[in-house]
Amino acid sequence: MDKLVIQGGQQLNGEIRIAGAKNSALPIMAAALLTSDVVTIGNLPHLYDITTMLELLGCMGVESMVGEKLNVEINSGTIRKFNAPYELVKTMRASILVLGPMLSHYGEAQVALPGGCAIGSRPVNLHLAALKKMGADIQVESGYIHAHTRGSRLKGTHILMDVVTVTGTENVMMAATLADGQTIIENAAREPEVVDLARCLRAMGADVSGEGTGTITINGVDKLKGCEYPVMPDRIETGTYLIAAAATRGRIKVKDTWPNILDAVLSKLEETGAEINVGENWISLDMHGRRPRAVSLTTAPYPAFPTDMQAQFTALNTVAEGSGSITETVFENRFMHIHEMNRMGADLRVEGNTVIFRGVPRLKGAPVMATDLRASASLIIAGLVAEHETVVDRIYHIDRGYECIEEKLQLLGAKIRRLPS
Ligand code: EPU
Repeated sequence: MDKLVIQGGQQLNGEIRIAGAKNSALPIMAAALLTSDVVTIGNLPHLYDITTMLELLGCMGVESMVGEKLNVEINSGTIRKFNAPYELVKTMRASILVLGPMLSHYGEAQVALPGGCAIGSRPVNLHLAALKKMGADIQVESGYIHAHTRGSRLKGTHILMDVVTVTGTENVMMAATLADGQTIIENAAREPEVVDLARCLRAMGADVSGEGTGTITINGVDKLKGCEYPVMPDRIETGTYLIAAAATRGRIKVKDTWPNILDAVLSKLEETGAEINVGENWISLDMHGRRPRAVSLTTAPYPAFPTDMQAQFTALNTVAEGSGSITETVFENRFMHIHEMNRMGADLRVEGNTVIFRGVPRLKGAPVMATDLRASASLIIAGLVAEHETVVDRIYHIDRGYECIEEKLQLLGAKIRRLPS
């Protein structure tokens, strides 16, 4: 397994470009299953999860052609089977996103039931309950979801999500585009990636409105068509580099991104003492060489502070001036990085779903182990602010969601290199 070796203590300074959003690209790729025409997706990030989604579509007979300019053409007209196998689903939970589109367009789908993962149990009960309410016949047997419409279309209905779920909202929204009648999703996720998917569905001819609010309305249509659609920038990648620069007391400009989808993160960064400036498609951050101030936060669905940036902000707080607390309300087990950071000399204590922290002047490099994607990013930030050498093991997690991370960090002046296994 590859490792990352970091010599900490360098300030991050410079400019980088932000890639397309993984969590927007994945549902948009699944949405290509809603039409037999070609869907061309642009600004695709170069990531392991994207390759897995292409592999998943490919194993069902869907043809795709990856172009030179970060784009892919997906032609679902060639689909032969409707089965998402366990071998792929176990490596990427977002595979569940093919369920709604396949069921709605082709009337059947077998998708391996995703298991728990490093950050929580992550059930998909709300996806299944909503599709059942739309008339699908769904059985879970031998680890697989077997779903059918028994020859008729899914039926539009009123769906109240008990919990705000991002991929749950996306799955139901996609299924509803080809259903018979109107579907209203209440307590829908408001994440920008849900908005991006809705825009792509509209470009395919769907009648969707209300995205970005808690109520999404979809009037089913008979058929969707192909389209060209560029994926939005990755707000989590954007935030990760800004947090890394703040933690190292540096100065950075991130380009090809959108400032308006990062309000909660930018305001927390300002609380640390960072000077933030924004333009239409860039954000700059300058710590003026100062140590960040400690900032408490609580994660919650958008527009609140994202769970996907909790671990990175914890890394910043390990070396901040002062103390505070971080509360995680979205996933029940998203604190695996805490124990690794304590091995580097951090002062963090977990109490239920809260971490109580006291900033220390400096961390000390150590061998650490990454447990999931965002935890890996946080350990890299910890390594960047630590004295001496940090070796982050199991970094295959990072390649799932951060494009060329060591090259981008090197561009910013970090001393980081990959140690192939
Ligand atoms: N939940 C249920 N039942 C369901 C679905 C969700 O109880 O049927 C619960 C979950 O267990 C969790 C909460 O609802 O406690 C929210 O989970 P959600 O369904 O929103 O998560 P997700 O859709 O599986 C997406 C992102 C995650 C991100 C979360 C929260 C994608 C592909 N994944 O996951 O991204 O953390 O929303 O914002 O969009 C990442 O990129 O590192 C990542 C984990």
